[in-house]
Amino acid sequence: MRAIVVSANGGPEVLAYTDDHPDPEPNPGEVLVEVAASGVNFIDVYHRIGRYQLSLPFVPGEEGAGTVAAVGEDVRDVAVGDTVAWSSVPGSYASRIAVPTSKLLAVPEGVTAEVAAAVTLQGLTAHYLTHSTYEVKAGDDVLVHAAAGGMGLLLTQVAKMRGARVIGTVSTEEKEILARQAGADEVFRYRGFADAVRDLTGSGVHVVYDGVGAATFDESIASLRPRGMMALYGQASGPVPPLDPQILARNGSLFLTRPTLGSYIATRDELTWRASDLYGWVASGKLRVHVSERYPLAEAARAHQDLEARRTTGKVLLIP
Ligand SMILES: NC(=O)c1ccc[n+]([C@@H]2O[C@H](COP(=O)([O-])OP(=O)(O)OC[C@H]3O[C@@H](n4cnc5c(N)ncnc54)[C@H](OP(=O)(O)O)[C@@H]3O)[C@@H](O)[C@H]2O)c1
Repeated sequence: MRAIVVSANGGPEVLAYTDDHPDPEPNPGEVLVEVAASGVNFIDVYHRIGRYQLSLPFVPGEEGAGTVAAVGEDVRDVAVGDTVAWSSVPGSYASRIAVPTSKLLAVPEGVTAEVAAAVTLQGLTAHYLTHSTYEVKAGDDVLVHAAAGGMGLLLTQVAKMRGARVIGTVSTEEKEILARQAGADEVFRYRGFADAVRDLTGSGVHVVYDGVGAATFDESIASLRPRGMMALYGQASGPVPPLDPQILARNGSLFLTRPTLGSYIATRDELTWRASDLYGWVASGKLRVHVSERYPLAEAARAHQDLEARRTTGKVLLIP
């Protein structure tokens, strides 16, 4: 089958394409899927460079969607020909993948495989961040960094659905337009954003969704109102250095969390609750999925270069 293989950690050039990778076989409890599209996520960069260690060699990618080609023993409720999606399943940059049914999601009518590949991982993340990590309420002020990115456009829309005022940060005018189209009420550049947020809100925001990390952390803390929630959910600009918990006291009894998707879809019930909300919003047109780039699988290296250089907006897909 076709796949990307990483044999050593490093830059985008270590994403080596092959059309001769061994085909996976579905074990009991797994299904074999013919992949229609694989989602590119920032975590794939962390895996590639070795910030989060995987044992080498590995096929990167955690997300995708496609058509069931075969089912393993003991598999019920899934049939050959079904359209399915998944997240948090390693080895997704490939034309075929064996997916455990515990991670498998049925893609409903009204959602294409490509859209499911684009929305599943980041959409589930936007769901847990706004419904569980901090339950966004009508009238809340919410700060979303990288508001035109894959996560940012979804977080902005979901926070708006819940009735919040959304303040976004972005690096360019083109990204500002996209963030506003997604519903952001105010959009700032990064320089001095904490002052701009305080001027706008008075006492600061209820929650910051910060996937940028090192470059934004201090000002994110300074943007919060007393007892506000700092949801540090990523580190696109680099890891946040160790910190003194007293900064939470000094800034008004703040909460700091470093959440990961795995902890919020740990049970099948929680996964299917979030996925059913998510796909329902997409099918009904409440949530728009912006796929900015589709690269052939063989050009995964170019996809990573563009993502890391901040050239992409919304979702990036690989087509095997
Ligand atoms: N914890 C979880 O459960 C979870 C799940 C999914 C994603 N995430 C995290 O969410 C974040 C966003 O992921 P994504 O896949 O949606 O990516 P993305 O937002 O589409 O791309 C990253 C964006 O971050 C901004 N950025 C700021 N400084 C940057 C820098 N030095 N280098 C690169 N980008 C920089 C850029 O937007 P501007 O140009 O507008 O600044 C860039 O477009 C990542 O940190 C990822 O790890 C976490």
